[in-house]
Amino acid sequence: MSQKTWGGRFDGGTDARVEAFTESISFDKRLYRHDIRASQAHAGMLAEVGLLTPDEADRILVALDEIGAEIEAGRMEYSISLEDIHTHIERALIAKLGDVGRKLHTARSRNDQIVTDVKLWTRDAIDDLDGLLQDLQKAFVDSAERERGVVIPGYTHLQRAQPVLAAHYFLAYAEKFQRDRERLADTRKRVNVLPLGAAALAGTSLPIDRESVRQKLGFDSVARNSLDVSSDRDFLIEFVFDLSLIATHLSGWAEEWVIWSTTEFNFLDLPDAFCTGSSIMPHKKNPDVLELTRGKSARVIGCLQQLFLLLKGLPLAYNRDLQEDKTALFDAFDTVAGMLAVAAPLVAQTKLRREAIANRIEEGFLDATTLMEFFIAKGVPMRSAHEAVGKLVRRCEQERCRLVQLPATAFEEACPGIGAAVTGVLGVAKSLAAFKSYGSTAPEEVERQLQAWRERLT
Ligand code: ARG
Repeated sequence: MSQKTWGGRFDGGTDARVEAFTESISFDKRLYRHDIRASQAHAGMLAEVGLLTPDEADRILVALDEIGAEIEAGRMEYSISLEDIHTHIERALIAKLGDVGRKLHTARSRNDQIVTDVKLWTRDAIDDLDGLLQDLQKAFVDSAERERGVVIPGYTHLQRAQPVLAAHYFLAYAEKFQRDRERLADTRKRVNVLPLGAAALAGTSLPIDRESVRQKLGFDSVARNSLDVSSDRDFLIEFVFDLSLIATHLSGWAEEWVIWSTTEFNFLDLPDAFCTGSSIMPHKKNPDVLELTRGKSARVIGCLQQLFLLLKGLPLAYNRDLQEDKTALFDAFDTVAGMLAVAAPLVAQTKLRREAIANRIEEGFLDATTLMEFFIAKGVPMRSAHEAVGKLVRRCEQERCRLVQLPATAFEEACPGIGAAVTGVLGVAKSLAAFKSYGSTAPEEVERQLQAWRERLT
């Protein structure tokens, strides 16, 4: 008798090349725990509605536990002739229980089974990612705490713009990864809808109880339309989109720190344990972890494209193309989980080079915008204030000095009646102290945000 679950209709064997071409066991074997869990819920339900006797169901549950332990222990013999994880587990069950094992697939299809497995797996993956993201946020919040007194240049266009507190800078990343966590939590709602029971595509004439399976597997609700179920991979696109955005955030951060760790910037002291050397240049300490974080983000975004392309031409309901969703899903998840796992300790162990930053903090006219705002507060129209400060900056460039080094007459010329108080916003420390608005780098604002983050992450 054919080993195939669908062998009845077929004469002779499958071409070996076809078996190799169509198999998915090489990558879907990692779903075995979820496949077993879904099968146990299904078997329990079949007994409740009388499609299995209680004794048959018990034997199936026990045998499935055994199979899970065998797989765990590396004792499952995988074979491409058994196609996928569902068939491997079902065949192992039949080998243990004979005809009783042959009853498990009642009122179920691999079409609703695979999407159930993948949803259970994705739900776990989301929960794992939430923990990893939280660890990374903690590292940023701890850095904010540690470097809280430090002032750094804030950049736009990678040109010096305005002074910011280092704590404000680190907390900006805590915000980004918070949105990532919220996005994942939202995606989880669509993941957490039970597919099983849709059977092949149309449902079943057998008296199943999908609500009972829903409860057993902890889904929030039952998918309403059986035709929709086996073709629905929206949740995967959403999930891999979420992963792509995490990867994008990590990549931008990595790029920033690659730049900040150059001799030219000299802002960061990257931990040796997270850098690598050069095989020919003995002095080199390269930020490979950051570079690969940047580089690996391309893979994740590529996976998202792959999923869109996979789905865009598929009619209802199940098509075998859908088997190809898993490589993209697993690769995107593994890549992002790997990135997060090194990002958190890297952030935690990286220190700012405070002296190098302080030595050059007065360069680049970081106080010019606050000076302009001082003029505005004195009643000068914004555009006129902008022009006046622009001219003062130009004069400084010609005289190779800072705004604070200009004579009082220069400010008086720019804005008659401005008075000596203008020096109160000149220089980086005073400029920074002048900030007030909600969400700004104002020290008391940043302190408040830091406090809020500490509470949020405990
Ligand atoms: N390996 C398949 C997949 O990943 C499982 C479902 C197969 N269904 C089928 N009718 N051949 O999509």
